[in-house]
Amino acid sequence: MIEDGFYDRVGGHAAFVTLVDAFYERVAVDPVMRPMYPEDSLEGAKWRLTAFLEQYWGGPTTYSDERGHPRLRMRHSPFPVTFDARDRWLRYMTEALDSLTLSPMDHATMLDYFERAAAAMVNTGDDTSDTRTRLM
Ligand code: HEM
Repeated sequence: MIEDGFYDRVGGHAAFVTLVDAFYERVAVDPVMRPMYPEDSLEGAKWRLTAFLEQYWGGPTTYSDERGHPRLRMRHSPFPVTFDARDRWLRYMTEALDSLTLSPMDHATMLDYFERAAAAMVNTGDDTSDTRTRLM
């Protein structure tokens, strides 16, 4: 459960826009992650992550109003989320968190969530081609 007031205390909509902008600035130049986003523009992906995070942290429910239940693991299944991809995602989000002005407690709460969520999204152990299929 997210504590009442968390969303406003960390800076509301503007804070989540700042966070996600800082995150995608890094994704945009990452050789592993950028190709996972086939659209020319990252604006759609930015919107989806911003709206999801706002909803998760107690803000408006626009994400589910427009996209339905998040089902994040299912929505990531088309993409190979390797341990390497998880590390990159988490590194960029950790860096992006520094663009917000958070109390040490709020910072720890958000980082802890991102660590757990990123770990939960891993869906393949292979960082290259799938050797298991080749052996079978
Ligand atoms: C661990 C590494 C991760 C990778 C490589 C990854 C990659 C991606 C990619 C390629 C997309 C599709 C882009 C789009 O059209 O939106 C996506 C969507 C999304 N990701 Fe991740 N992601 C990761 C972790 C996470 C985590 C930890 C969260 C949440 C805390 C998250 C939240 C989302 C959301 C909300 C969407 C949009 C879902 C939708 O409504 O379609 N992702 N991700």
